[in-house]
Amino acid sequence: MKKDFIKYQAQTTPHPLGLEVERAQGTYIYTTDGKKHLDFVAGVSACSLGHCHPKVVQAIKEQAEKYLHVMVYGEYAQEPAVALTKLLAQHFPKPLEKTYLTNSGTEAIEGAIKLARRYTGRAEIIAARKAYHGNTMGSLSLMDFEERQKPFRPLLGGISFINFNEKEDLRKITKNTAAVVLESIQGGAGFIFPEHNYLEAVKQRCEEVGALLILDEIQPGFGRTGKLFGFQNFNVVPDIVALGKGMGGGMPIGAFAASSKIMDSLSDRPKMGHITTFGGNPVIAASALATLREITTSGLMTESLEKEKLFRKLLVHPLISEVRGKGLMLAIIASSEEIANKLILKCKEKGLILFWLLFEQKAVRITPPLTISNAEIKEGCGIIIDVLNDIIKQEKAVD
Ligand SMILES: Cc1ncc(COP(=O)(O)O)c(C=O)c1O
Repeated sequence: MKKDFIKYQAQTTPHPLGLEVERAQGTYIYTTDGKKHLDFVAGVSACSLGHCHPKVVQAIKEQAEKYLHVMVYGEYAQEPAVALTKLLAQHFPKPLEKTYLTNSGTEAIEGAIKLARRYTGRAEIIAARKAYHGNTMGSLSLMDFEERQKPFRPLLGGISFINFNEKEDLRKITKNTAAVVLESIQGGAGFIFPEHNYLEAVKQRCEEVGALLILDEIQPGFGRTGKLFGFQNFNVVPDIVALGKGMGGGMPIGAFAASSKIMDSLSDRPKMGHITTFGGNPVIAASALATLREITTSGLMTESLEKEKLFRKLLVHPLISEVRGKGLMLAIIASSEEIANKLILKCKEKGLILFWLLFEQKAVRITPPLTISNAEIKEGCGIIIDVLNDIIKQEKAVD
C-alpha cells in the first residue's frame, strides 16, 4: 500500500511517516504489519475522544441511515447542524451565539476574516508572527514565514504582523484595522501561552479603535486545556472565534462563531456573502454533536489537568529541557533539534506515535486523545524515557 500511497496520493513532504493503517480504536492505531501504536498525537489534536469512540460512531451511523447531503449550507434546517449550533451557543460566553459551520479549520479562518472585513468596512488584518492559521490563500497570508509564502505570492493584501506577547506592538492596531487574528495559545510556535494579560490587552486595544478580535481555537479548543475553549483560561471573550480539529471527534469540520449582530452582516449586502456546499453536513454535524455532548458531560476536561500532572511527573530527563503547555496540549522541548528528531523516529519504531511542531524544531508534540488512560500515559512516557536513555548511551559509546 505504501508504494501506491507515494505514487498516487499527492504528498505534503518527501518523507511521510507512512504507517499503513488497518484500523484504530481508543488510543491505539493498528497497522497492516500486525503492530499496534500508542497514539500521543491524535491526528494532530483532532481525535479528541480517541479513535472510533462508540458514541461518535453510533451518531454517524444513525445519521447516515437518515440522510446525507441534501442541500448547500444554510438553505434547509437540518437537525444535526441546528442541535450542534444551539448546544455551542449554550457553552459560549456571551455575546457569542451564532455559528457558521465549515469543512475545515482554514475555511473557518477565511470566513472569520471576511466577516471582520464585512462588519467593520475596514481592510487591514493583523496577525502574529509564528502563527499558524491554515493553508488556503487567506490563512497562508497570515503566516509570517517567507520560505513558505514566497512560492505562492501574491497573497492577500492588507496584512500586517505583531509579535505575540509584546504589548508595545499593540500600537499597530489602529482605526484602519478590521481585525486582529491570534491563536489563543500559539501552537506551531511551540505551545506559547499568552502572558501578563496579553489577550486582555489586545481585546482592550481592539475595543478602543473599533477593531474585532478573532481568536483561533482550532488547536486548543474542545477541552484540551481543561476548559472547552482555550481562551476561557484567560479573562477575554473574542468577537469572533474559529473552531475545528477536535470539534469533529475524528470527522472533518471547522466553524466560526460571533454575536448575532456581527454574524448577520454576512448574509446580506451582498446576499450569500459566504457560501459552501458541504459546510454543516449532517453526518459530520452529528459526529461533532456527539463529541461536544461527551466532552461537556463527562469529566474529561478536568481530567486533562490531572493527566497533565502525570505527564509532567514522568517526563523528567536530562535531554528534556522543558515540558510546555497545559492539559493535554503539551510539548516536550528537547535539548536539541537532533534529539527531538531522534526521539520521534525511534519512538515510532517502538510503537509510540509522536510528531513535530511547525516552527519550533526542538519541540515534540504530545496531544493525545482526551480519553487516554493513566496506564497508557505511563506506557508511552516509559517508551520516551527508554529511548532518551538509549540516545545518551549511544552518544557515550561514540565518545
Ligand atoms: C491553530 C490552527 N489554526 C488553523 C488550522 C487549520 O486547520 P485545518 O488544517 O483543518 O484547515 C490549524 C491546523 O493545524 C491550526 O492548528
